[in-house]
Amino acid sequence: MKLAGKVAIVTGTSPNIGGGIAEGLADEGASVVCVDQVPENARQCAESIKRRGGQALGIACDVTDEAQVTAMVGRARESLGGVDILVNNAGILGGLSVLEMPLERWSRQIAVNLTGTFLCTKHVARLMVAEGRPGSIIVIVSTAGHQGQAGNIGYCTSKSGLLNFTRAAAMDLAKHRIRVNSLTPTATDREEAAERAVAWGRPRPERREGAMLDFQKMVPAGRLPSPRHYARAAVFLASDDAEMVTGFDLRVDGGAIAKYWPWIPNA
Ligand SMILES: NC(=O)c1ccc[n+]([C@@H]2O[C@H](COP(=O)([O-])OP(=O)(O)OC[C@H]3O[C@@H](n4cnc5c(N)ncnc54)[C@H](O)[C@@H]3O)[C@@H](O)[C@H]2O)c1
Repeated sequence: MKLAGKVAIVTGTSPNIGGGIAEGLADEGASVVCVDQVPENARQCAESIKRRGGQALGIACDVTDEAQVTAMVGRARESLGGVDILVNNAGILGGLSVLEMPLERWSRQIAVNLTGTFLCTKHVARLMVAEGRPGSIIVIVSTAGHQGQAGNIGYCTSKSGLLNFTRAAAMDLAKHRIRVNSLTPTATDREEAAERAVAWGRPRPERREGAMLDFQKMVPAGRLPSPRHYARAAVFLASDDAEMVTGFDLRVDGGAIAKYWPWIPNA
C-alpha cells in the first residue's frame, strides 16, 4: 500500500475521472475526502470507497467559493487529522469558439478550472505549512491545455493556465516540502465511468456509438486511457516514490501529445 496513513482530498468526484482517482488512491490505503458541488457525487463516491473497505468522507462544496473551500478543508482536518494529498480535478469541460463564447460561460469556466484550483491549493497548502506536514498536490490538466482545439476557447485557455500554475505553485511551496505536479489526461474511454455509475447505483449512461472513433484513430497507443490509468499515475505522484518530482507534467495520453501532427497511427 503506497499511501497507507495518508489523507487525500479529491475534487470533482463524478463516476468518471475524479471517482476513478479517488477510488485508486483509497485502494492504496489513503483516506479520501470526496468533494463535489453536486452532493450526490461527493456522497456516492465516499460510500463506494467505504463499501470497498476504505475510509472516506463526502463533502458538498463549490470550489470557486473561498468560504466553502476553507470550511471543506477545515472539516477534512477535523475528521481525518490533516491533509497530505490534494487532487484538483473539478472542472467544466467543453465550450465554444472565441467568436461565440458568452462572457458569463467563459467566466464560470475560468472560475471553476483555474480559480477553484487556486483556492483549493491555497487553503490545503496553508494547512500543510501550518502543521509542518509535507504534501503532494496534483492538478488535472488536459491535452487541450497543450494544443489549440477549435471550438473550445475557455477550456484550452484554463487548462493551459494550469500548466504554469503548477510550476509557479511548485516554486512557492518547494521549501515547505510540498510538491505540485500536473497530470494530463486525454479523451477517455467511457466504459469504466459507465461501470462505476452502475456500481454507485445509477442507471447505465447511454452509449453514444462512434463518439470516440476520431480520438481512437489518432492515439498512438491504439486505445484510449481509462480513469484507472490516471489513478495509477496520481498514486505515483502522491507517493514517496515521487519525492524528488515537482513542477512536472505527467502525460497519461497514450502518446497523443508526443505524436508528429500529420501522422495517423490507426487509420
Ligand atoms: N473526460 C475527458 O475526456 C477528459 C480529458 C482530459 C481532461 N479531463 C479533465 O478531467 C477532469 C474530470 O473530468 P471528467 O470527464 O471526469 O468530468 P465530469 O464532468 O464527469 O466531472 C467533473 C466534476 O467536477 C464537478 N464540478 C464542476 N464544477 C465544480 C465546482 N465549482 N465545485 C466542485 N465541483 C465541481 C462536477 O460536478 C463533476 O462531478 C476535469 O478537470 C477535466 O477537464 C477530462
